[in-house]
Amino acid sequence: MPCSIAPGKILLFGEHFVVKGKPAIGMAVSVYAKTCVSKGVGIVESGQLGILVDLSSRVVNDRGVHKIIEELSKRGILKNNFHAVIESQIPIGSGMGSSAAVSSALAHALTVFSGFEPSKELVWEVSFEAEKIYHVNPSGIDNTLSVYGGIILYKDKSFRRLEIKWPEDIYIVVVDSRIKRSTGQVVADVLSRYEKYPTIYSRIYEAGEAIVTEALKALETGDFVRLGELMDINHGLLASISVSSSAIDRIVWSIREAGALGVKVSGAGRGGIVIALVEEARRDNVSNRVRELGLEPLLAKPDLKGVRALSPYG
Ligand code: PMV
Repeated sequence: MPCSIAPGKILLFGEHFVVKGKPAIGMAVSVYAKTCVSKGVGIVESGQLGILVDLSSRVVNDRGVHKIIEELSKRGILKNNFHAVIESQIPIGSGMGSSAAVSSALAHALTVFSGFEPSKELVWEVSFEAEKIYHVNPSGIDNTLSVYGGIILYKDKSFRRLEIKWPEDIYIVVVDSRIKRSTGQVVADVLSRYEKYPTIYSRIYEAGEAIVTEALKALETGDFVRLGELMDINHGLLASISVSSSAIDRIVWSIREAGALGVKVSGAGRGGIVIALVEEARRDNVSNRVRELGLEPLLAKPDLKGVRALSPYG
């Protein structure tokens, strides 16, 4: 049975500032959505995610999934003879690009099942069509990372892949705060505050850009102590534009005190995920502190490959 996986993502630097044309750095991480396909009557389902699209009985409770079927059918790739089952390790609605990873894994697995080559370009195009349904005006950063993997610099709607040597003993610890937020609402609120204090906010956003410039150097030279400090500064800026909260700061400070190199909220903020850069020697300490807060640490590394078939198919 062909199965495909696609990674989720984090934003290492630059969220919110990117909305005003500043650069951001995103990274695909080793937390995955998976789809397996066998012969059937045109069904995509996920008990875990509450998805059911059944072409035989015309049930569609997920328009993004339906769009993927439509796009692949339109291209002559897909017939109605599939039964796809989706599972995911990626927290939903937390800024980890769950919808993009699910869409990429599904488009890839359906294409392989149908006997066609699942090129990165094809999976990107199809998953982006689904992203347009899930999110108003998506930047494309989420499905670019789920399809291509790696670490990317994003600016003005264009992407540059960064070739970084990531050390074996450095982890990204991801913590889902389990506090739900709407990216659209947080972005709108931040933009209205920007309008109220433009001279102050423009300086904060410039500092955000300077952090990305410094972070690129730290990544290229392998200076992960500096990278962590830059994450701390970035979190401070995000707090100053009101996208942290007492609950998020409690997580951030607990992880900091447990010895992380750097910690920040990732994505829209006011909830969602907190990410930490952690050396192997501090990994268990950090994980235990997260568990003491009643939360679960996800120990991740960069995913450099993006969407792919699971062995023995790929
Ligand atoms: O949806 P999230 O949590 O990954 O956040 C998106 C990042 C923002 O910069 C806040 C919004 C955007 O469209 O870039």
